[in-house]
Amino acid sequence: MSAAIVHLNGEFLPIEQASISVLDRGFLFGDGVYEVIPVYGGRLFRLDQHLQRLEHSLAAIRIDNPHSREEWHALLGELVQRNSDGDQSLYLQITRGAALRNLAFPVGTTPTVFAMTSPVHPRSGAEQGVDAIVVADTRWLHCDIKAITLLPAVLMRQQAVDHGAAEAIMVRDGLLTEGAACNVFIVQNGVAMTPPHSERLLPGITRDLLVELCHRNAIPCEERNVSEAELRNADEVWITSSPTGVLPVTHLDGAAVGNGEPGPLWRFVSGLYRQYQIDFRAGLVT
Ligand code: PDD
Repeated sequence: MSAAIVHLNGEFLPIEQASISVLDRGFLFGDGVYEVIPVYGGRLFRLDQHLQRLEHSLAAIRIDNPHSREEWHALLGELVQRNSDGDQSLYLQITRGAALRNLAFPVGTTPTVFAMTSPVHPRSGAEQGVDAIVVADTRWLHCDIKAITLLPAVLMRQQAVDHGAAEAIMVRDGLLTEGAACNVFIVQNGVAMTPPHSERLLPGITRDLLVELCHRNAIPCEERNVSEAELRNADEVWITSSPTGVLPVTHLDGAAVGNGEPGPLWRFVSGLYRQYQIDFRAGLVT
């Protein structure tokens, strides 16, 4: 396979040739934001929703968006075309740029724009259910910003791995927030529930699509606070993210969720999600 082509500051180049300054504020401070966008059949999935969230993240950390929507469409479309025809995951990062180390914003610095794609490898066996642990949400209160500063998520995910689990699901003030890199739904008595948008969690694109699909298909779905007790006693728990879609969690802290098998509502909803992906590939939906 030919070397991956990445985008860096207006140029397309082989990944080995892409480099940035050691003074980049992304490197020194984690001073930047990112997006992860799935590519199916050469098309960027829910691109406008991702770009809208990117606009929100950039505005929240006071970086001027370096590109218009049209420019992003062209730039990211070209990056996808220059890589494989198969399914990809596109990673896009914008930092405040390189400047002498000082916490306050530098004056007149150009943001660093980096984007790459990688082939998608579906998680083998994940559809049979994954294990998760429950941890305290010790992050800051701007979790709606998709910031590259991911140390809490790194530590939590490693804690999950150390316990033989796939993901860490967080609780703050007795309420479910989200996973280290995913949103969370529970099902109780046939009703799907997920916490509402707030500064406590990322407004996931997959989450939002799932809520939409539930509403369109007359599946009861509520965006409301979910207590830790409700999480631990749920009939079903699902996790959602762009790279993995919607996966069933079958064990929480070692205890079976429901009967320890993927639940019936998950089967139905993941079928709807898969169909949406098929329709997207065929150009029937955006
Ligand atoms: N993470 N919550 C958090 C904290 C996340 O990091 C992510 C995704 C999500 C799900 O959002 P979406 O459905 O838009 O992918 C929720 C990406 C994939 C990552 O960090 O790699």
